[in-house]
Amino acid sequence: MEIPFAESWKIKMVEPIRKSTREEREQWIKEAHYNVFQLKSEQVYIDLITDSGTNAMSDRQWAAMMMGDESYAGARSFFRLKDTIKQLTGFDYVIPTHQGRAAENVLFSYLVKEGDIVPGNSHFDTTKGHIEGRKATALDCTVDEAKDTQLEVPFKGNVDPAKLEKALAEHANKIPFIIVTITNNTAGGQPVSMQNLREVRAIADKYNKPVVFDSARFAENAYFIKTREEGYKDKTIKEIVKEMFSLADGMTMSAKKDAVVNMGGFIATRRQDWYDGAKGYCVQFEGYLTYGGMNGRDMEALATGLDENTEFDNLETRIKQVEYLAKRLDEFGIPYQRPAGGHAIFVDADKVLTNVPKEEFPAQTLTIELYLEAGIRGCEIGYILADRDPVTRENRFNGLDLLRLAIPRRVYTNNHMDVIAVALKNVYDRRNEINHGVRIKWEAPLMRHFTVQLERI
Ligand code: F0G
Repeated sequence: MEIPFAESWKIKMVEPIRKSTREEREQWIKEAHYNVFQLKSEQVYIDLITDSGTNAMSDRQWAAMMMGDESYAGARSFFRLKDTIKQLTGFDYVIPTHQGRAAENVLFSYLVKEGDIVPGNSHFDTTKGHIEGRKATALDCTVDEAKDTQLEVPFKGNVDPAKLEKALAEHANKIPFIIVTITNNTAGGQPVSMQNLREVRAIADKYNKPVVFDSARFAENAYFIKTREEGYKDKTIKEIVKEMFSLADGMTMSAKKDAVVNMGGFIATRRQDWYDGAKGYCVQFEGYLTYGGMNGRDMEALATGLDENTEFDNLETRIKQVEYLAKRLDEFGIPYQRPAGGHAIFVDADKVLTNVPKEEFPAQTLTIELYLEAGIRGCEIGYILADRDPVTRENRFNGLDLLRLAIPRRVYTNNHMDVIAVALKNVYDRRNEINHGVRIKWEAPLMRHFTVQLERI
C-alpha cells in the first residue's frame, strides 16, 4: 500500500478554541450588524476570515525573534532581512513596512499620480484603494477564464496579454507601471504562469514600462509553477522564485501571507531611482529606513519565514490541505472556483444561493449562514468588497460573488477541514429555503466591507 501524505511538521504548542450554540451565534451576528469583521474572535470556532497574519510560526522563527536587534538605525536584523530578500529575488534595494498596504502606500506615493492608469490582474482591494485614492484607475486585465468558476485551467490568475497590450497601446503615457498579483487573490487564489510573466515583461519592454509584482503569495505561486507548468518540475522553489522576480522591476510584499509571520511587509526593487523616490515616504509614514514599522525581532522572524516557506515540503503541506478541503466539497457537489486555489477555497455563492438576488448579496448571505451553522467565519469576496464605482456610485455587480474560506498556514488540522465541509454541506442542502439576503444600512465610501452594517431581509 502507498504510504499516505502527512504534514511536514509536528505540533509543539496549541491554543484552545471553543464551540458555541446556534442561539449564541444568532445573537452575536446580529450585534455585529451581520458583518463578520465585527465579531469577536471568541465568538468564532474555526476562523477562515483570512490567511493573513494568522499563521503559526515555526520554532526556528520564534528562536530568531530572540536575536532581534532593536537599534533605531542600522539594525543587524534589517541587514539580515535585506540579504535574504536579495538572495531570493535578486533585488538590491529593500524598504521595510509594517504590512503590505503600507508598502503600496509608500511606493505608490512616489509612482502614482492623478489621472494615471495602472493595469494588472484583479488588483487586491487595498491595492485598488491606493490607486483610486490617488484619483487614478486600476484597470483589470485578468483572463476571462477567471470568471467561469467551473472551468478547470491551471493558471487562471493570468494577465490577458491582449487586454494589457490594448491598454498600453491606448494609454501608454498615463501608465506608470503594470502590477501583477501573484497569486491572484481576488480571482480565487489562482496562480500566474511563468510563461505569462514572460509575456507581461515582453509587452512592458515594448512600451518601456516597469513591472511590479504584488507578491503576497509568491511562494504558493512558485509551487504551482513547479507542479503545473512544463519545464519546472525539477527546479527548486527557490530557483523558480528567482526566475519569477527576474521578470519584475520591483515588488510590494505583505509578509503576513507567504513569509508566515503575524505582521510585516516590504518593498524591494532593482531600481535605485524608485528606492530614492520612495524612501522619504517610508520615513514619513512608516519609520526610519532600517525598520519601517517593524520591530527588529519581527524582521528576524520574517527573514527566517521567507527562507522556510520557499522550501517545497512546507508549501506542499499547505497546498495539499487546501486540496483536501476541495475534495470534501466535491463529494457534496458544492461549487467553488476550480481548481482549488493556493490559500483558500472560494465558494461560488451565485451558484449556491440561486434564489437570492444580486442586490441582496448572495456571498455575504452564505457567509452569515455558514457562521450560524457551525461558528465558521469565512469572508465575502464579492459584491460588497467590490465597492461602488467611483464615478457612477453604483454597486459593481460585474465580478464574481464568492465566499472565501482562507486557510491559515500550519494552524488547523484536516479534522477541522471536515467540520468546515460538512457545515457547508448542511447549508447547501437547505439552499432552496434561503430566499432573501441582506441590505446595507450604513457603508464607508471606500473599502466598505470592513465596517459595513447590514440587516437581514
Ligand atoms: N495584496 C494582496 C494580494 C493581498 O491579498 C493583501 C492582503 C494585500 C496586498 C495587503 O496586504 O493586509 O498586509 O496590508 N490580503 C489580506 C487578505 C488582507 O485577507 O487577503 P496587508
